[in-house]
Amino acid sequence: MKIFLDTADLQEIRRAARAGLIDGVTTNPSLMAKVVGDADVGDYMKEVTEAVNGPVSLEVLATEADGMVAQGRDLARIADNVVIKCPLTEEGLAATRQLRAEGIGVNVTLCFSPSQALLAAKAGASYISPFVGRLDDISHEGMELIAQIREIYDNYGYDTEILVASIRHPLHFVEAALIGADIATLPPTVLWKLLAHPLTDRGLENFIKDWEKAKLVVPSMEEAKL
Ligand code: E4P
Repeated sequence: MKIFLDTADLQEIRRAARAGLIDGVTTNPSLMAKVVGDADVGDYMKEVTEAVNGPVSLEVLATEADGMVAQGRDLARIADNVVIKCPLTEEGLAATRQLRAEGIGVNVTLCFSPSQALLAAKAGASYISPFVGRLDDISHEGMELIAQIREIYDNYGYDTEILVASIRHPLHFVEAALIGADIATLPPTVLWKLLAHPLTDRGLENFIKDWEKAKLVVPSMEEAKL
């Protein structure tokens, strides 16, 4: 399963990219608004596209298809790895069809039902973004939606990638992988939680203590060659 980072925070993106942990980035207008500050939005987006070796989703804000297509074309010019995020509305799907016809990647966002996901695939979406956390928030089992979409896409051989969004904790990530989702997009806090384990920390601490107690030194490469 691919991992995307769900943030526009450049520091977090660079940190995760340095560790080789991410295959792409997703943003949305709320995430952008948190971090852009006084910077030029286009310049900021360009920096994000340069910080990761993989697709970067940038969202349109128009609500009519023509406006979405125009914004999508402009955003796609920022860098080759830009994917346009269109909302799962009638207008958004019309824009998706047009942008895909022009060879531009589209991530259809704000998906909350299997029927919506099927329509997005028929419109040619490159990615579908079902929001599991927001469904859990209203007492619907978000992960059930992922399983339903997986089954439907497999039934008909759609190649739209299932990008699990609105992930809130590591169990969402594990469940998405068990279901066979293509991608999980994680807020930085969740990504770092995936990595952490108290037994790893304790084990490492003990290895170092035991080594030092025995007063051993690590052989340098030069000495090791002799
Ligand atoms: C990503 O593409 C979505 O915009 C994001 O995961 C939404 O997450 P939230 O429900 O935590 O805002």
